[in-house]
Amino acid sequence: MITLAVETSCDETSLALYSDSGEVCKEITLSQALVHHSFGGVVPELSAREHTRNILPLLDELLRTSPVDLKKVDFVSFTLTPGLILSLVVGVAFAKAISYALGKPLVPVHHLEGHIYSVFLEKPVDYPFLALIVSGGHTDLYLVEGFSRYTFLGGTLDDAVGESYDKVATMMGLGYPGGPVIDRLAKEGQPVYNFPRPMLKENTLNMSFSGLKTAVRQVIEKGSYRKEDVARSFQDAIMDVLEEKTLLASRFTGIRRVVIVGGVSANSELRRRFGLLQDKGLLEVYIPRPRLSTDNALMIAYAGMERFKKGVVAPEDINPEPNIPL
Ligand code: KG4
Ligand code: ZN
Repeated sequence: MITLAVETSCDETSLALYSDSGEVCKEITLSQALVHHSFGGVVPELSAREHTRNILPLLDELLRTSPVDLKKVDFVSFTLTPGLILSLVVGVAFAKAISYALGKPLVPVHHLEGHIYSVFLEKPVDYPFLALIVSGGHTDLYLVEGFSRYTFLGGTLDDAVGESYDKVATMMGLGYPGGPVIDRLAKEGQPVYNFPRPMLKENTLNMSFSGLKTAVRQVIEKGSYRKEDVARSFQDAIMDVLEEKTLLASRFTGIRRVVIVGGVSANSELRRRFGLLQDKGLLEVYIPRPRLSTDNALMIAYAGMERFKKGVVAPEDINPEPNIPL
């Protein structure tokens, strides 16, 4: 069985062809990072326009470089929610048009479910496991007991971690997206600032990052600082919180297996830290390769395949929503 998958929830236009045998596994992604770079974040209207401009040329490119043609597609998977509504609309309308033209079903996918299953594209993980989702819009911990069996354990009460990276980068004039550049700068910095680790010692799986952002702003506004040191100190604070809350979730549930997904899971320090926890035998850690950490249609294809096998098919009048919970 082969699916064509469509992902346009934020600033990546991504299409994939994927078969459940794994034989067909081809993805093409166009990042809009340069378009939004000087704005410090994704501009929704520009994002929707870019998706509209690029999605058909991207399909042409995918088909040109892939061993199967569109007629072989059994169903179309697409991201339904959450995301920027204008951006989602482009992908949903596109997926509907293709499904109508082919006479093949449409399968809606939750973007966060896609992120969780990005790990499975490399190797399936045994249930139950914990999922730490760290992206531009989400910082959440879930207990996953089976496909589509998710229990929310806790998450950020304010800013998401990726959003914090992006805001701190903007404060230092580093442009959007902030994660990769702070990741790079932090390697050259010293932890000279003792930034707050909000809610670190509280016996809850909730988190908060807006106080940390304010503390960083205060240092930056004083005017004399090394970007590398701010990046390092900020990143250390973030990682301390993510590490501690994941360990706490593991203690609460008795589960050591954890998948870490979403754009921030591309971070090199996160990978190093959680690798150490695994070496100590405290956690069993699964992180997809960096290419699959950030938004991509292959993860939507994988989740779409599982959903289709369970009989999930979208009605013709399905409409995207900015924020349906997982
Ligand atoms: O999952 P994603 O591609 O899109 C959303 O669903 O939000 O995540 C994007 C976020 C951005 O905030 C970006 O700055 C962050 O992931 N990010 C990183 C790294 N690469 C991307 N954050 C920290 N370190 C990185 N290496
Ligand atoms: Zn995402």
